[in-house]
Amino acid sequence: MRSYVSKVATTIELPSRDTRKAALDDAGYNVFNLDAADVFVDLLTDSGTGTMSDAQWGAMFEGDEAYAGSESFARFQTAVSEVMGFEKVVPVHQGRGAENVLYGALVEEGDHVINNTHFDTTRAHVANAGGVAVDCPVPEARDLDSDAPFKGNFDLGAARSHVDEVGAENVPVVVLTITNNSAAGQPVSIENTRAVAAFAEEIDATFVVDACRFAENAYFVRERESEFADWSVADIAREQLRYADAIVMSGKKDALTNIGGFVGVRDQDLFEVAKQRAILYEGFPTYGGLAGRDLDAMAVGLREAVEYDYLDHRIGQVRELATKLSEAGLPVFEPVGGHAVYVDAGELLPQIPDAEFPGQALVCELYREGGVRAVELGSFAFHGTDRPEFVRMAVPRRTYHREHFDHVAETAAAVADRREELRGYEIVGEPAMPELRHFSAALRPVE
Ligand code: F0G
Repeated sequence: MRSYVSKVATTIELPSRDTRKAALDDAGYNVFNLDAADVFVDLLTDSGTGTMSDAQWGAMFEGDEAYAGSESFARFQTAVSEVMGFEKVVPVHQGRGAENVLYGALVEEGDHVINNTHFDTTRAHVANAGGVAVDCPVPEARDLDSDAPFKGNFDLGAARSHVDEVGAENVPVVVLTITNNSAAGQPVSIENTRAVAAFAEEIDATFVVDACRFAENAYFVRERESEFADWSVADIAREQLRYADAIVMSGKKDALTNIGGFVGVRDQDLFEVAKQRAILYEGFPTYGGLAGRDLDAMAVGLREAVEYDYLDHRIGQVRELATKLSEAGLPVFEPVGGHAVYVDAGELLPQIPDAEFPGQALVCELYREGGVRAVELGSFAFHGTDRPEFVRMAVPRRTYHREHFDHVAETAAAVADRREELRGYEIVGEPAMPELRHFSAALRPVE
């Protein structure tokens, strides 16, 4: 059994109820606008919010800050190659930097990109490159009652119908997001990965894996796909990524760092274009907008992320939180995914229509009640897409303890007890790009 202890202590305080109420009002009922100091348990995201290991901090002291060709880059490149099987790698500042570098190179005006489900920044980058983002999740992705083992899978039938409609020549990229963050962090099987790779080849598209949570996905494959029951998670991770022509990676997830990301490719010509785009937007291709020490932290973190005991502890924490929330009376999406617990706010708050954002109502109330910050991933975040009214409580890696999860569960129980009193919200100001509105839109309670 694996566990972690704290070596550096950070103080957190629960602000008073009045302070929380005023803070939420000042934030325009959008928790992205809160000061983190006003948050007690922060489950906004698992991205870059985790705790690095002593080995990672130690490696950072050896960071080589040479502008070009640093030793840190060489160590990083070796780790990506050994852990993920990609030798041609371009570091970037974070996952969306990778999306910009890669999708900017592959997607042209009017192209369609098919994904099991686009994450919000992915959708925005496809749109920014002039493309159309098409989601093809399997139907059970939105079925709370199904205990299907791989609800994150890509629906090949739906993808084929789309290709028949728009023509294969207009679909240059097929993406598989593992785990499927926007579909409750559900895993994708290797069987599905192989089939998607074959489909991409058939239509002559580049097959990209969004590998942010590739290690968590490998843990589920080992647990649920019988072919791999005796494999190490490290071998499973490499097997799954073997089928991809390219990967985009946010190091802030399964490289266990606070910043960083990268693109991995196999094709030499694509590598050259990616490097040029990196120089334009990120930095010279051996540092990509990062310090050398950040590359060292990712190199060590990638190896830690594919240790079975690390993943067992990590996914165990997420499952423990889910059990507590379910006991508190929240409709929790099952089976529980890798990095977060997803709650169906539509089911909890049937009196609030989707257009008045039941998920956002729950998010606001969790904060007001207990200083807990979650995030809406329903109609507010995914404007115009037909999906459940999810609220996500993401668990930062190696950071919180049982007492924090108990506090979240007590908060949730208090909110669930007076769910009938909750009312919806309306938007009063929003940014130009609808794909990004939930990060900065201001809201107010519906009268
Ligand atoms: N792809 C997926 C599947 C993601 O979950 C994220 C980020 C990105 C790409 C972009 O990576 O943040 O490093 O630029 N997800 C975070 C989240 C922000 O909260 O789920 P990034």
